[in-house]
Parts: sequence; structure tokens; C-alpha cells
Amino acid sequence: MKLLILNGPNLNLLGKREVDIYGHQTFESYFAQLKGDYSNVELHYYQSNSEGLLIDKLHEVGFSYDGIVFNAGAYTHTSIALADAISAINTPVIEVHLSNIYKRETFRHHSYLSPVCMGCIAGFGLYSYNLAIEAFIKKQ
Ligand code: DQA
Repeated sequence: MKLLILNGPNLNLLGKREVDIYGHQTFESYFAQLKGDYSNVELHYYQSNSEGLLIDKLHEVGFSYDGIVFNAGAYTHTSIALADAISAINTPVIEVHLSNIYKRETFRHHSYLSPVCMGCIAGFGLYSYNLAIEAFIKKQ
């Protein structure tokens, strides 16, 4: 099984950014752990701060990968273009968030992506990504 973990804006700063909300671990060190935990899964990782590059990546992998675990960061709450890209591809997408977006400011309560994703996992820190990978494995 081939999965892409796709991270959007500011998630390159995990470990440094608002650590009370997002924790102390960098995504690179977490990704190394994940690869060990799921050695039977072909895991790929891509991060961009640019909406267009995220769309390009969805187009690139969205007809050949088995699943995409997508944390679109703040674009979750603003981007019709990303929602359209998810609708346009065949590969199922699971939306993830480290924080529980429903416990936070009201502008984070709406997601343009949830209606076009297979499901949404929020609030479990980095473990949200594990849960999404587990969901793809169970679904297989
Ligand atoms: C986030 C939640 C978003 O509201 C925020 O803009 C982020 C991170 C999360 O993982 O909790 O950048 O997607």
C-alpha cells in the first residue's frame, strides 16, 4: 500500500511553532518513527506552504496512490481550490489536524475539505496521522 502524508502551511515549523498547541516534536522525527511503525506501508511525505504546490501534488499522486493523509493547515478553512482538487482525484483523502479544531476559534470550525474527504481526524496531536494510516490499512 502506497500512502502520501501531505502537510500544508506552517507545518514545517512543528516543534518550534506554538508548542502548547502543536507539541515539541518535529515532523521529520515523527515521520522517521512512522516509517518504522508501518514498515509494510510505502509512506511518502510532502510539505508546502503554497496552495498551488499542494494542488499540484494532489494531481500528481491522486490517480496512483492508495490514500492521502492531508493536514491542509489554515487552507482547510479557506480553500475551495483544494476541495476541488480532492474532488477531482480518485485517491481517497483523510483530513487530519493535530488540534481539536472544534475546541478553538470559530473560524476553525468550518472545513471546506471535510465534505470531500473520506473522513476527518482531529485533536490527537501527531497521533492523528497514525489513526488515519490505521483507517487506510483497515479499509484495504
Ligand atoms: C491545524 C489546525 C488549523 O486550524 C491551523 O491553521 C493549522 C494546524 C492542526 O493541525 O491542528 O495550521 O490544521
